[in-house]
Amino acid sequence: MQPKRAGVIGWPIEHSLSPPMHNAAFRALGMDDWLYDKNAIPSDILAKSIKEFMRHGYIGLNVTIPFKQEVAKLTRPDDIVKRVGAANTLILPRNASTNTDVPGFIDDLKANGMIPAEMKVVLLGAGGAARAALYGLVQEGAAVAVVNRTPAKAFAMIRDMELEASVKTHDEAAAWQPDLIVNATSVGMQPDIDQSPWRDDRPLPDKAIIYDMVYRPIKTKLMQAAEAQGLKAIGGLGMLVRQGAKSFEIWTEREAPIDVMFDAVRTALEDKN
Ligand code: ATR
Repeated sequence: MQPKRAGVIGWPIEHSLSPPMHNAAFRALGMDDWLYDKNAIPSDILAKSIKEFMRHGYIGLNVTIPFKQEVAKLTRPDDIVKRVGAANTLILPRNASTNTDVPGFIDDLKANGMIPAEMKVVLLGAGGAARAALYGLVQEGAAVAVVNRTPAKAFAMIRDMELEASVKTHDEAAAWQPDLIVNATSVGMQPDIDQSPWRDDRPLPDKAIIYDMVYRPIKTKLMQAAEAQGLKAIGGLGMLVRQGAKSFEIWTEREAPIDVMFDAVRTALEDKN
């Protein structure tokens, strides 16, 4: 029997948690004819590779660093991809792309009891992850202020995406009294676990929930600082799982077993650390 294939492409790809997450989901649902693999693709053969995956009957691919922008141009992007400028999910039989980071992130906020429409959100960062978060938050009706090391990039992101949001300094953002602070920078990610995207010499705003998209380490320096201040801190594992679950559902038309996927990712992280 020919397996139904899906996988992830990137460079490097060694540490991807997507294969154990998706394969655990297939096993849990008895989908023994499905296989999810990881593929390190050199950037000069990206376009050729996508055609090759199609030729071999792959149904879906997840896309990670550094190809999220480029694949948007090589496929038929949906509206989310057009606005965010990046795709993380390809549906190969249709040569289509979408970005499940957006609903994955928003779903995870809601799963943690938040109602984005009622929230003032400070978004740290202006790269690809920040663009996905900004799009989702503004679509939901949140009020968003972007804080970035390079403010010009924050202004450019908001302008390019044609969204309503402001740009603030750390101090202005703190004085605004946000309900939620989202770290969409890579600051604090392994191996730089002693770094935080929030300035060490400033306390975090009083009532804010802290959401760190970083999941390596599981508890970042930012999350530790939040908890030391008595604030709720949420790491990036939920977003990782929920974007995967969305991709899974698009490809298989089955409901994703979220708990199984969470367990698989936690186990894979423990094994690797
Ligand atoms: P990604 O696609 O993962 O979001 P990216 O596009 O390279 O990655 O964006 C990285 C983000 O992290 C940017 O907002 C970057 O700030 P700049 O726009 O000023 O470059 C931010 N970032 C990275 N390293 C940082 C650091 N040491 N301090 C503060 N911000 C940092």
